[in-house]
Amino acid sequence: MVAHAPAGGWIPVAIEDLRKLARELPLDLFIQLSESNYCHVFSRTTGLDYGRLANYRQKGVTHLHARESDRAILEQHLREHQLDRLLADSSVRPEQKAGLILNWTERTIADVFISTSYAPEAMEDSRRLVLQYVDLMARQPYSLAALLRLISHEHYLHFHSVAVAVFSAMLARASGKYSTEDVALISWGGFLHDIGATRIEGDFYCDPLAAAEGPARDQLDSHCRLGLEIIQESRSIPKEVGYIVYQHHESPNGSGRPNGTRRAGMHEPGMLVAVVDAWSSLISSHGGRQALAPQQAFDVLVKAAEQGRLDGDSVELLRTLIPRQPGRAA
Ligand SMILES: [Fe+2]
Ligand SMILES: [Fe+2]
Repeated sequence: MVAHAPAGGWIPVAIEDLRKLARELPLDLFIQLSESNYCHVFSRTTGLDYGRLANYRQKGVTHLHARESDRAILEQHLREHQLDRLLADSSVRPEQKAGLILNWTERTIADVFISTSYAPEAMEDSRRLVLQYVDLMARQPYSLAALLRLISHEHYLHFHSVAVAVFSAMLARASGKYSTEDVALISWGGFLHDIGATRIEGDFYCDPLAAAEGPARDQLDSHCRLGLEIIQESRSIPKEVGYIVYQHHESPNGSGRPNGTRRAGMHEPGMLVAVVDAWSSLISSHGGRQALAPQQAFDVLVKAAEQGRLDGDSVELLRTLIPRQPGRAA
């Protein structure tokens, strides 16, 4: 809907600032189509849509616009409704935090899917699935605490967890081997695979395919063990999720961590998540390393599978997840 110029004019609002906010919105926002044409995009009733915000950003739009008459409401809202502040605020009730965590996760899912060419149904299914168990976890005090730690630990960890969750779901579905319930458990395991890192002091940087020695190896071992502990302590998380978390750094040839378990002793969904973990890590820039293009990352995985460090069938299946257009997948 094209909007008439309001009395007093427009004020620009940076999309980057809007992405930091909870979904609810106390004013209307507009996108500028041409010098004098503005179109209504978000309202009090719809709230923000993180997927659309990610799309605008992707297309190079840097600002939306509010009515000048809403300036005071806007400024107060930008000050008081930032997701990270609200989640850290002890006066915000747990039920409200559950909703905020869902907002945060929706935003991260939108970031994971941007600039990819996956089938929209597959993206929507994975999005719904992840939001379902995150919602379940956010309603239980113990798992709510784990989610809050995951979000506050460092930005990359939550992004990586969501990326592994959505791609694990897509890969498990593509295999045709798993029931709907199993796909959900595999995705859940993907989401929590590095949750043990939230109990490790200082920086956590886990490169699934690097040969870890010394302190890096200790960190690798301990985040698998601590992750299993967190899951065992929470009654809302199924135990199958724990197997995935515990084994996501094991390798079929026995060179993995923490136990050097060989293929015969490995949990199959754990092997699938291990492949997605490595892929997701390679196609994202973190730890001072540049992101690889999806095809380059895939070639690295093929080599690792040939060495017996990753499950070859899961790597081969991953070919279906490589975007057909050039660009970063996550
Ligand atoms: Fe890990
Ligand atoms: Fe990981």
